[in-house]
Amino acid sequence: MLSWDPSLAIGVPEIDEQHRSLFDQAARFDAAVRAGVQGKEVRELFDFLSRYASEHFEAEERIMREAGYPRLASHVLEHAEFRRRLATLLPHWESEGDSTALLMAVSGFLMRWLREHIAASDRAIGDHLRSRSSQPRQ
Ligand SMILES: [Fe+2]
Ligand SMILES: [Fe+2]
Repeated sequence: MLSWDPSLAIGVPEIDEQHRSLFDQAARFDAAVRAGVQGKEVRELFDFLSRYASEHFEAEERIMREAGYPRLASHVLEHAEFRRRLATLLPHWESEGDSTALLMAVSGFLMRWLREHIAASDRAIGDHLRSRSSQPRQ
């Protein structure tokens, strides 16, 4: 199980807080799956992820735009892919219920996101912000 650590910070408190909360949520979900998850927990996770996908992505995209981040377009595509996956998983859960296959798919999707998006693509935003702030102002 991945956990948040300070090397993942991009240096914007609002964003770092949101990332931490996703790690926490993923850990809670993982624990719930292991313990034999109940529908309520899965519902809470989907509600959280839907909110996250609008509020967090909006905030992060705003920061990238303001910072003139050069890889904005491909980053926005990754966010869109997250939304698309979420929009596919939710109706599956609503029709199938808490099947093991579905819960494993949700868990795998989240773990990949933490590893491949937050720890890579999001971390690159932090690198960009830090390189900007160390340059002398024009
Ligand atoms: Fe992102
Ligand atoms: Fe993010």
